[in-house]
Amino acid sequence: MSAHQHTDELSINQALAWGYAQLIANKHISSDEARFEAQHLLCEVLKVNRAHILTWPENRLTQPAQSHYESLIKERKAGKPVAYILGYREFWGLKLGVTAETLIPRPDTEILVTEALKRITPKSKQLIDLGTGSGAIAIALAKENPKLIVIATDVHYPTLTVAKNNANLHQVKVSFIQCHWLEAFETLPKFDMIVSNPPYIETEDQYLQQGDLRYEPIRALASGDDGLDAIKQIIQESYPKLQSKGWLLLEHGYNQAEAVRSLLAQEGFCHIETIKDFAQHDRVSLGQK
Ligand SMILES: C[S@@+](CC[C@H](N)C(=O)[O-])C[C@H]1O[C@@H](n2cnc3c(N)ncnc32)[C@H](O)[C@@H]1O
Repeated sequence: MSAHQHTDELSINQALAWGYAQLIANKHISSDEARFEAQHLLCEVLKVNRAHILTWPENRLTQPAQSHYESLIKERKAGKPVAYILGYREFWGLKLGVTAETLIPRPDTEILVTEALKRITPKSKQLIDLGTGSGAIAIALAKENPKLIVIATDVHYPTLTVAKNNANLHQVKVSFIQCHWLEAFETLPKFDMIVSNPPYIETEDQYLQQGDLRYEPIRALASGDDGLDAIKQIIQESYPKLQSKGWLLLEHGYNQAEAVRSLLAQEGFCHIETIKDFAQHDRVSLGQK
C-alpha cells in the first residue's frame, strides 16, 4: 500500500478530511471545490446524499468503499473533472450523461434556457439547438415544451450518441442531426427559435490549458483568434432560416457581448439585448427577426 492509502477503515469524517487534503494539493482546485467534491465523491461511493454523511460522520467505510473512494479522489487530484469521473452532470434538474466527447454542461447555460422559455409562445412550432453537446439545452427545452418540435445538431457524431441517450433517458422527443451549424437546413418550414452555446474561447487563450477545460474537447471550446468565428457564422446563417419575429439566442464570453450585439444588428435583428449570468457577467445575447 502506498503512503496515501489506509490500512484501517476510515470514518466518514476521516475520509472527507483525507479527500480534502488530497484535492487541495492540486492548484487548480479551490478550497471550496475541494470540500464540496470530497463530499460529492464520497456520496457517490456510498450511494447516499449529503445529509447522510453530515449526520453520520463517525460511520466507518467498508474496505471496498474506501478503495473506491481513494481511486476517485486520485483521478480528481490528477485533474480529471468530476463530471467525467462520475459520467454525469446535472443540468436543469436532469441527470445528463457526459463523456470526453461532450462539453460538461455549465449552470450559466441554464440562463439561456430560461430566456428561451420566456420567448416560446403557444404559436411556436419548431426550435433548433446548434452544437448540442450532451443535449443539455435541447433536452431541457423539450422537457418544458413537449409539443414543440425540437431539433439538435452537432458536428461530431459521437457527441450526438451521448445526447440521444440522454434524450431517451429523460423521455423527450428530440431529432438529432449531424451537420455543420445550419447547413443541412435549406428547406422550409423556418424555425421559430434558434439557440446555441457555441465554442467561443480565443484559440490562444491560456485558460484552455487550465482546470477542467484541459479535458474537454477543443472543438467545443475554441473558435478562432477572437473566439467569434462560430458566433459570426451562426448569426449570418440564422437570419434567413428564422420565421418573421423568430428569436436567436446565443451564449458567449463575458467580454463578447458588445461584439455579438453589433453582429446581430448588422444582420438585421431587432430587440437585441444581453442577459447577465449568476456572477453578473454578460453571458447571453439575443435578437428577434
Ligand atoms: C460549448 S459546446 C456546447 C454544448 C452544449 N450545447 C452545452 O451547452 O453544454 C459547443 C458544441 O458545438 C459543437 N460544434 C463545434 N463546431 C460545430 C459546427 N461547426 N457545427 C455544429 N456543431 C459544432 C461541439 O461539438 C460542441 O458540442
